[in-house]
Amino acid sequence: MSDLTPDAAHAVDRYLVDTLVGSDPALDQAIADQKAAGLPDIEVAPTGGKLLHLLVRMSGAHRVLEIGTLGGYSTIWLARAVPADGLVTTIEAEARNAEVARRSVDRAGVGEKVEILVGRGADVLPRLQGEPAYDLVFIDADKESNTIYLDWAARLGHPGTVVVLDNIVRSGNVADPAEDGSQIAGVRAGLEMLRDDPRFDATGLQTLDAKGWDGIAIALIV
Ligand code: DHB
Ligand code: MG
Repeated sequence: MSDLTPDAAHAVDRYLVDTLVGSDPALDQAIADQKAAGLPDIEVAPTGGKLLHLLVRMSGAHRVLEIGTLGGYSTIWLARAVPADGLVTTIEAEARNAEVARRSVDRAGVGEKVEILVGRGADVLPRLQGEPAYDLVFIDADKESNTIYLDWAARLGHPGTVVVLDNIVRSGNVADPAEDGSQIAGVRAGLEMLRDDPRFDATGLQTLDAKGWDGIAIALIV
């Protein structure tokens, strides 16, 4: 038995990725293109991408909403999980990121299942009112806006919709009272909303993966 050290955690993550997730040319190329275009390497880890993929399939989701496309890595995982008549609508604030993502989702062969809407979430989300409800929502954008995104997830979802909120631990900062920046305040506000807002029932999980020590909340719209 080894002690919990960053090296040990990374070795376990590599083992799990090798054993259960594998590698994939389209996903690898999406990461390479994202890096070449100068986008930050803050996409979900492979284990997290596979989790999103499985949650879509487990919940039978046809319509997925993603807030925060970045270079399309998680988008590909999500799009591969929806059926042929399914749709992933993904919102990206930066037009440059959206262009990188469009090339990567097309190359992965899921372009017809992905709609990329360019603009800030708070501006784009109201336009989705009147569309059929979303079955799974993945929130992975600016942390300051987490409560806005959760509110839209509840409004655009339905009872039974699965909501996944990324980056709820942030290297432990969420539970450190000395950390009081705007991002961590947004993370805490999101978690308190998941606790207090009767539209949600939720839990939180810490993750130790290729992206370090972070976590996700998983919520059900009730
Ligand atoms: C950051 C954002 C993310 O969504 C993430 O998964 C990791 C880091 C960031 O803004 O630093
Ligand atoms: Mg994230």
